Amino acid sequence: MENEDIRKDFEIFNNTDVAYLDSAATTQRPKQVIDAVKNYYNTANANPHRGNYALSLKSTEVYDEARSKVAKFINAQESREIVFSKNATEALNMLAYSYGMQNLQKGDKVVISILEHHANLVPWQRVTKQKEAKLEYMYINDEGQITDEEIEKKITPGTKIVGITHVSNVLGTITPVEKIIKKAHSVGAVVVLDASQSVPHRKVDVQKLDADFVVFSGHKMLAPLGIGVLYGKAELLEKMPPFLLGGDMIEYVQEQSATFAEIPTRFEAGTQNVGGAIGLAAAIDYLQKIGMEKVEKIEQELLIYAKEQLENLSYVTVYGPKDINQRASVISFNVKNIHPHDVSSILDSVGVAIRAGDHCAQPLIHYMHVPATCRASFYIYNTKADVDRLILGLNKTYEMFKKWI
Ligand code: ALA
Repeated sequence: MENEDIRKDFEIFNNTDVAYLDSAATTQRPKQVIDAVKNYYNTANANPHRGNYALSLKSTEVYDEARSKVAKFINAQESREIVFSKNATEALNMLAYSYGMQNLQKGDKVVISILEHHANLVPWQRVTKQKEAKLEYMYINDEGQITDEEIEKKITPGTKIVGITHVSNVLGTITPVEKIIKKAHSVGAVVVLDASQSVPHRKVDVQKLDADFVVFSGHKMLAPLGIGVLYGKAELLEKMPPFLLGGDMIEYVQEQSATFAEIPTRFEAGTQNVGGAIGLAAAIDYLQKIGMEKVEKIEQELLIYAKEQLENLSYVTVYGPKDINQRASVISFNVKNIHPHDVSSILDSVGVAIRAGDHCAQPLIHYMHVPATCRASFYIYNTKADVDRLILGLNKTYEMFKKWI
């Protein structure tokens, strides 16, 4: 399947003339995903796990099938290691609260990187404050990469949790997670991998990586909004207390006490988002039909083309690793002396959608000494024509502003 064929599955591009370059925020959905969700509501909708009638049993069955599909997609050992959440943010909060609150002691260290999205940062701020533990950062070099020296310096005995993004949502940096995980395990720490920007774009094998916890969001990989995943090694999840309390996640409830269900149900309080899980399963089918190697290849070609075009513009600064093998299809850049919000507004006027701002990563933006950045991010439905339109839009922006800068 070539990009042009893939693009035909996305009806939004028939309805809206847009070069959509904001897939790191949320992706578009192909008709196969939309149809799968519609079909679920039209044929199998009922409250799962709670009814003893055919529709409810069907809803339970398809929900369980979706969980198995996710488990296979990331090569989890068992499907009970997959907890459905609202999104990666909720999964990270679950971990900070359930794992962090239970396992951190006064003086322990949580090590994260300066590349983290607020979702893998603010929850750790709160839990380390409450437990009187320390929060330390691995910083990046001039190219936006975490060096071996930094890993050795920061992940030391006393580190109990390492939180790391697999791919930076700002710079596109592919972080050295294999090294980080090895080092973390050598000092007895567990690793929380934010795979929000990697699972949608490349093959991620949780067993091969040996990550303890991995989170990602469905809406960044063609699935509906409101469904996300927390993967955890079964032996770790089993020891964790629940985060949210309520329906279905219990074993027995008495007036003054309760015991809790087995994993993963223990972590899924309230009526589950079955429609979302079905959509995520359909998204996985769609990606697997293309093949994750092909997904990666399509994006890398777009990345190489876009990076070259952007670097040819004398008034543009591109951030992040120079080595194409160290970066994914997210490019942050700035236009000389023009605020990113102005750039994105003018691009919008020519039908180019990018994100501008701090990308929910304010500590990184401060560390980079920039007010904000423009960010173009790509997915399987993008084409070189989208990149060309971005470049035309940037030329227009520069022409409009150049007499004042
Ligand atoms: N986390 C999303 C982004 O990077 C919203 O844009």
